[in-house]
Formats: sequence, C-alpha cells, structure tokens
Amino acid sequence: MRTQVGIIGAGPAGLLLSRLLALQGIDSVVLENRSREYVEARIRARILEQHTADTLTAAGVGDRLQRQGLEHSGIHLQYPGTRHTLDFPSLCGRTVWVYGQTEVTKDLIATQLDGGPPLLFCVFDVHLEDVDTDAPRIQFTDAAGTPQVLECDVVAGADGFHGVSRPVVQEAGERVWERTYPYAWLGILADAAPATDELIYAWHPEGFALYSMRSPPVSRLYLQVDPSERIEDWPDERIWDALDTRMALESWSVNRGPVTEKSILPMRSFVSAPMRRGRLFLAGDAAHIVPPTGAKGLNLAVADVTLLAQALVRLLREKETDLVDSYSDRALARVWRCTHFSWFMTSMLHRSGDDFDAELQLSQLRRVCSSETAARELAENYTGLPLDL
Ligand code: APR
Ligand code: PHB
Repeated sequence: MRTQVGIIGAGPAGLLLSRLLALQGIDSVVLENRSREYVEARIRARILEQHTADTLTAAGVGDRLQRQGLEHSGIHLQYPGTRHTLDFPSLCGRTVWVYGQTEVTKDLIATQLDGGPPLLFCVFDVHLEDVDTDAPRIQFTDAAGTPQVLECDVVAGADGFHGVSRPVVQEAGERVWERTYPYAWLGILADAAPATDELIYAWHPEGFALYSMRSPPVSRLYLQVDPSERIEDWPDERIWDALDTRMALESWSVNRGPVTEKSILPMRSFVSAPMRRGRLFLAGDAAHIVPPTGAKGLNLAVADVTLLAQALVRLLREKETDLVDSYSDRALARVWRCTHFSWFMTSMLHRSGDDFDAELQLSQLRRVCSSETAARELAENYTGLPLDL
C-alpha cells in the first residue's frame, strides 16, 4: 500500500486532517486500532470555539453541527451570592458552540466512508519505520490478521495520549512538561432539561461545580472531587445534593432527572515538544493534554491539524519546507496559550482547601465580573484566539 500521508488514529485530529488534505487533493490513509462502534461511543468534550465550528463547516462536515449544535453567546461565572454573565459577542465578537466531540467524530467518519480516503478500523501492531527519511513506513496488521506495510511521504501521529507515535519522537530527544492537578471531576449525564441558558462555572467553599448541557432535554454536570474518590461512594442523591449546594442561588434550582452515566475524570496537563521528528508530525492529544476547565482539548486538536494540513499541502504540492519546519513552533505557541488558560480557569475555580487561596480566587472572580478588560481577556481565550498567535 502507498499513500502520501499515513495517519495514525481516527479521533477528531486524524479524521479532520484526512478530510482537509482530501479537499486539497492530497491522499491519505487513516489507521485506527479500535472499532468504529467504540470510536463513535466515546464521550468527550463538547465546547467548540468559533474557529473550530467554522473549520468543520468549511470542510463540509458542519451540517449537523449547524442544525443540532447549540450556539452559546456566553457563560455564567458564579460564587456565593453572585451569578455573573460574560457576554462573548459584546466582549470579543465571537460565540462558542455546544456540540459533542462524539458527534463531530461521527460526522467525520460518515463523510470519510462516503467516498473519502481509506479508513481502516481494528488494525493492530502498528509500528513506524524510517521516519528520519523521506520515505517513512507504517507496518501494521489489518482487521483480517494480514500484515501490511503502508509506504508514505509523511506520517501524522494523531493517535492520542496512549498512541505509538509520541514514543518515536521521544527516542530522538523530546522534552515533556507535566502537571497533575490535585482535583478530579465527577461527571454525570442526566435526562433533565438544563435549568440554565448558558454554562455555569461555579466556585464554592465545598468545591467547583459546572452546569453544562448536551441537548435541550439532556444535562451534563460536574463536581470537583478528590482524585481518590470512588464513584461507588456517590449515589445519585448525593451528587444532586452536592450540585444543589454548590450552585445554590435564590429562586433558582438545578433540574433533576435520571442519571444515565457517571464517571470520575482526572485533571492534568501535559505538553511534549517538538511535535515533529523528521517526516513524523504529532497532532492533538498525542502531543498535549489540558484539564477540561478551559474546554480546549478538541479545539487544540483542530487547530493543530489546520496548521498541519496547510504545511503538508505546501510540502507535498509545492515542495516547500518552510511551513513543515515552522509547524511545531507555531502549534506549540497555541498549545502553551491554551495550557495557560486551562491552568488559569482551573486555579481560579477549584478549592485547594487553603483559605489564602480561596481569598485570591474570590478576588480574581470579582475582578473578572467587574472589569471589562479582565472579562474580555477570559472571553477571547474561551472563544478561541487566532490560529497563529
Ligand atoms: N494505532 C492506531 N490508532 C490508535 C493507536 C494505535 N497504536 N493508539 C491510539 N489510537 C487511536 C485511538 O483509538 C483514538 O481513536 O487514536 C485515536 C486518537 O484520538 P483521540 O484520543 O480522540 O485524540 P485526538 O484526535 O487528538 O483528539 C483530541 O480528544 O481526548 C480528547 O479532549 C481531547 O478533545 C480532545 C480530543
Ligand atoms: C462539557 O459539557 O462536557 C464541558 C463543558 C465545558 C467545559 C468542560 C466540559 O469546560
């Protein structure tokens, strides 16, 4: 088998890269080690920056997003006694969309399988070879158990945090930065209409809480918990009571309904650099992880592949190396901006147990809720900064 760009991983990064390249006449093959059912069932982030929504729409995979996505013009920031709305259009002229990453993935897979580049599920034993040459190869075994070799001009490692690509970059000397936050999120999905128009990010002495939504009849809610907590110790009633306490506001209450899913998610940040070794380029979670408070994971993956697609088109069509040479630095500038914003949101909103920290957080929250400059800074980052910083 031969292709121009061998893509490892059929998450949003790999699938969108394949689509963006196809639109420019560059062929690719996407290799995924899980099944289509598995990939389409994974529940992940759901806030799309304006730029992400625009990129998906321009790539011809935004129909359902436009019809079923919920456009949001702000967020509510809350601390006891105050719920303040940040209105994004007036602060920075942009909005965000609530539309599940799961749905984005389904839309991309449907487009790909409808006459797009090859997408192979359930492959295994994926190995990279010769990435330091102009003819890298991917060895793998296909779903039928037949060993295969995919010869490429370029390989894109879009295989997430546990993939095989980053270790190959690492062998050549990669630098890694990591921060494990001492918090976790207990998340639930509930068949209950959201009791709020916009997402609510709530600071409370007992811990952070977030009110989000998936669709008009389905809510998504989160509670800060200790990473050592076990989900078995959180019956639904305890979760709803904690949400009531942490989100309390006069004449308002959380809407309860049957809980259809619950889990505890760790919170950490991870960045590895460079995002390239020879003809192997990393994109998305393969190179970086952010805590969910800033809602940046999916958006960073989309920004990476937008830059990477432009760089690969230039390399493969015009034989110019300038954009592939600057890819890692340009992508990382944005990665660190989003890592900082995610740290800022996480640090401002989660209870550390230290009362000095609490006063600093409340001071910061009051500042964001009273100063247009501070609010604009948050709004610009939340809705997404320009592709090149
Ligand atoms: N071979 C082939 N595929 C692999 C391999 C492998 N060895 N290892 C992992 N994969 C696949 C995974 O099964 C997954 O489908 O690579 C894909 C990586 O996709 P994601 O983890 O969704 O990562 P990415 O596409 O970068 O999307 C980033 O995902 O984790 C969220 O919040 C994050 O929203 C962000 C987004
Ligand atoms: C979500 O709806 O899952 C969600 C929303 C906003 C975040 C994180 C997660 O910051």
